[in-house]
Amino acid sequence: MPHHITLTTHDGKQIDFNCEPEQTVQDAAEAAGFFLPALCKAGSCGSCLGRCTQGDYHLDAYSPSLLSEKSREHGDVLLCCTHPDSDLQLTAPYKASQIQSGKDAPRSAEIVSIELIAERTMRLVLQLLPDAQHGIAFEFECGQFVELDVFELNLQRAYSMANTPNWDGRLEFLIRLQPQGQFSNYLQHTAQIGYRLKVSAAAGSFGIQEQSLAPRCFVAGGTGLAPFLSILRRMADWGEDHPTQLFLGVNNEQEIFCQDELAALAEAIPQLHVEICVWQPSEAWAGFRGTPADALRAYLATAELLPDVFLCGPPLLVEAATQVAVDAGVNPERIFCERFA
Ligand code: FES
Repeated sequence: MPHHITLTTHDGKQIDFNCEPEQTVQDAAEAAGFFLPALCKAGSCGSCLGRCTQGDYHLDAYSPSLLSEKSREHGDVLLCCTHPDSDLQLTAPYKASQIQSGKDAPRSAEIVSIELIAERTMRLVLQLLPDAQHGIAFEFECGQFVELDVFELNLQRAYSMANTPNWDGRLEFLIRLQPQGQFSNYLQHTAQIGYRLKVSAAAGSFGIQEQSLAPRCFVAGGTGLAPFLSILRRMADWGEDHPTQLFLGVNNEQEIFCQDELAALAEAIPQLHVEICVWQPSEAWAGFRGTPADALRAYLATAELLPDVFLCGPPLLVEAATQVAVDAGVNPERIFCERFA
């Protein structure tokens, strides 16, 4: 017998649907026409995080770094792993407008640029092809991601856009090359300018959802910089002068990328400060030595005002930086995370 699920969004809107015990809440919501933000749908990214405030449930296996014991005690759940054992009351950290009411058909796009910009990091630029419904326009919010589908290889991967929403149908991605990674192999050995991919509708709830007077602190692990580049480019376009600190973490100096772009943004946004953190630097490195979580700790120790903290990167970094922020007194409600699947 199905259980009744009530999900309340961050802006107080409510959606209701039924969920069979063998279904996940995520799947049941989709079956009812509510496409909640989700990336991996396999318990490994944390993008479907919600909180159960009433009712019983059990969870499928998930990456343990995503839910600490404490957050489990508070009722935090991954909706893609949650099966109801009774009716459930849930809350979600995103607005109702970020729930899609249908799945747009994937769009076709062509590779217009593909380049290695640092050790193990590629920049991929796609141009959407016109279609009857949209022309070349493509809607997304700074901080969102899409799924790229190399259809002839049946290969799908999700990446955040690094550029800003535009009417030209251009999408820019920063991609970490993984040893033996299928998509990495495709980019390095097969993909060429003119090759075509499918692009899903934009999804995800990461980004600046509401204006807050608190300073912003962005913490990026490697290509976790992409959504922050999008947000910062939008801030520069709009002349938004919000106190903002960015920490970008890499393993060594050879992995540093987007330095020119970051320097240009620091010039365009007067209250932006960028710190590149190198975990295993050479002796010659004069910048910050350590992880971005270490840099965040040092920053928070002297910060006059506690910032809103935004984290994007590998789960271990996101967890470490979350702990640093919580230990320094940042309200967990003001910590926003996007983990790589
Ligand atoms: S979508 Fe649920 S953990 Fe990734």
